[in-house]
Amino acid sequence: ETGCFTYDAGFTATASCKSAITYIDGDAGVLLYRGYPIEQLAEKSSFLEVAYLLMNGELPTTGEFEKFEHEVTHHTMMHEAFKSFLGGFRHDAHPMAMLTGMLGSLASFYHNDLDLEDPEQRRMTAIRLIAKVPTIAAACYRHSIGWPIRYPRNNLEYTTRFLHMLKEVPSEPLELSPVAAKAMDLLFILHADHEQNASTSTVRLVGSTGANPYVSVAAGVAALWGPAHGGANEAVLKMLAEIGRPENVKSAIDKAKDKESGFRLMGFGHRVYKNYDPRAALVRKMTHEVLGQLGVSDPLLDVAMKLEEAALQDEYFVQRKLYPNVDFYSGIIYKALGIPVEMFTVMFAIARTAGWVSHWLEQQEDPENKIGRPRQIYTGSANRDYVGIDKR
Ligand code: SDX
Repeated sequence: ETGCFTYDAGFTATASCKSAITYIDGDAGVLLYRGYPIEQLAEKSSFLEVAYLLMNGELPTTGEFEKFEHEVTHHTMMHEAFKSFLGGFRHDAHPMAMLTGMLGSLASFYHNDLDLEDPEQRRMTAIRLIAKVPTIAAACYRHSIGWPIRYPRNNLEYTTRFLHMLKEVPSEPLELSPVAAKAMDLLFILHADHEQNASTSTVRLVGSTGANPYVSVAAGVAALWGPAHGGANEAVLKMLAEIGRPENVKSAIDKAKDKESGFRLMGFGHRVYKNYDPRAALVRKMTHEVLGQLGVSDPLLDVAMKLEEAALQDEYFVQRKLYPNVDFYSGIIYKALGIPVEMFTVMFAIARTAGWVSHWLEQQEDPENKIGRPRQIYTGSANRDYVGIDKR
């Protein structure tokens, strides 16, 4: 039943797996989480409710959501031993390197009595990961700047609790604007899942071997770190800073069109969306709201707007349907919220944990629905005999 289709290169490939979680129509610019359009969820839902939807397939009733929120809230702490793990990282380690290591080490705490045949233990594993990733992510960042970690305040809602752990200055309470929490929650919703992207397929592939779910998700974090995938939002800010001023945009466009340069516009293009990424449209609108309401005038936004305008009018980009993707604007919002650049991909990982654990659960419930062993096209030498070193 898995779909087979032939690429231009003349070889056939098969769909990697079946899934009922997310549907994308790249040509029509459609993104549905369990059948609900991303535009409606962005406007009416919250990240934690979307996480419930992705995991369970239906929107929760009031009682179901209260139970889910209580379970997540009461699993946000990490074992005190984690602080010694954290202390072992260099102070200037990249937070994604630390997050990969810390998530993998969760397997050392939840391994011995973990029975993956038990649906309730699988469900609690998913909840533990959704609950603990923000705590661990914030701790990694605070370690990198030499600040003491902040324990989760369980009287705060999910996104605000994370921002508090990340940003509260040791000596003063954090004043968080409602706009910042709303913008962050929107970005978490938009990044929660995206069908069989590289990191989600990695989680499913590692999980399909029966490996511990915590290392399966750690493998997803590792895949997400790449600049062609989740690392693109960090790469967008670095690119905008290198361009520097709107008057340099044209030369950047010309450089991106010159194959020899090896330079690509970060935040443009997508493997699937061959029209505007519906998430980019939502986050572009939020970018202006955040910058307007926070009174932030960011010269990099001027560069970003000029770059988008120029690329959308340039034949090279229009012909190849290279439009701004979700990463193009999310980096600007994170910057406006005072999130450090090296934390951008970590933010993506926090949100995508909801998708990763949902895909892991879906696969565990149907062991036959595995990504399985990818095949290859062999391009090496034909069969040949060994030659002794004295005859080479
Ligand atoms: C994410 O899969 C997901 O769902 C991912 C994601 C998610 O939510 O999980 O949506 C998140 O990963 C978004 C993408 C973030 N990455 C970037 O923004 C990095 C910059 N983008 C590119 O590297 C690229 O666009 C990809 C990797 C995203 C997609 O590449 P494609 O669609 O496979 O395109 P391609 O590599 O086959 O290139 C097609 C043509 C080529 O030119 P020609 O050979 O036809 O002459 O388009 C050119 C490429 O050179 N091209 C670009 C370009 N992206 C493609 N040229 C300039 N700048 C770019 N960004």
